[in-house]
Amino acid sequence: MEILIEKDRESAAAKAADLVARHLRRKPDAVLGLATGETPRGLYRELVRRHAHEGLSFARVTTFNLDEYLGVAPEHPGSYHRYMRDVLVDHVDVDPSRVHLPDGLTTNVEATCAAYEESIRRAGGIDLQVLGVGRDGHIGFNEPSSSLGSRTRVKTLTPETRRDNAAAFGGEEQTPKHVLTMGIRTILETKRCLVLAFGETKAEVVRRMVEGPITASVPASALQLHEHVHVFLDEAAASRLERRDYYRFVSLNKPEASE
Ligand code: F6R
Repeated sequence: MEILIEKDRESAAAKAADLVARHLRRKPDAVLGLATGETPRGLYRELVRRHAHEGLSFARVTTFNLDEYLGVAPEHPGSYHRYMRDVLVDHVDVDPSRVHLPDGLTTNVEATCAAYEESIRRAGGIDLQVLGVGRDGHIGFNEPSSSLGSRTRVKTLTPETRRDNAAAFGGEEQTPKHVLTMGIRTILETKRCLVLAFGETKAEVVRRMVEGPITASVPASALQLHEHVHVFLDEAAASRLERRDYYRFVSLNKPEASE
């Protein structure tokens, strides 16, 4: 894992946007895996800005989101379909027919999940996957105890995650209990991951993701098995990392011609 510690979330988001932009320059028809939530908002803002002012184009890009709430319509203000339109899709030149999220209104969960995996495969796999991390260690909505070999399927949210996401639904009671999410294996099969985590509330889970043992109890720790992971942190999220001085040393002393 490459661990990058920035002074605040704005500069971390700008560095993460550099990585995305570098990829799109190299491969304009890249397949991007996208996350929702509070954490990547700054990254999307920066990508929209670069589209408007620096000619960054998404015209040939295909996207696949990690997850969607089961039983929630795309028009619902709490849906991830709506989130993606608000933060990115409506503000860049991506072709909406190449924007994919799991269908939260499906009546055949199994077939929908299998078809989602199949469309990722047909697109050639995900080149760059954006990830946030839940306080309980989830990536996508692979909650603790998720199989490290899992693929897209239905998952039940933990009470902690439902509490964290309650604002978009007007309270915990109204927050859906189930989601469709890419699995941990789906995520491990992506070619490169870009993980974002900010703030003191993520410090402990970041420590467990980066330095803890690989365990289904902390699904994000499975990323230690992935060959190309870039973790962008602010100071607060990095504060519990035992080897943070080493990670800083590494990022200041990159070998020539490295990514
Ligand atoms: C969202 C997702 C989740 C979030 C995580 C962190 O698509 O898959 O794993 O990344 O819940 O959420 P925030 O960023 O709101 O703290």
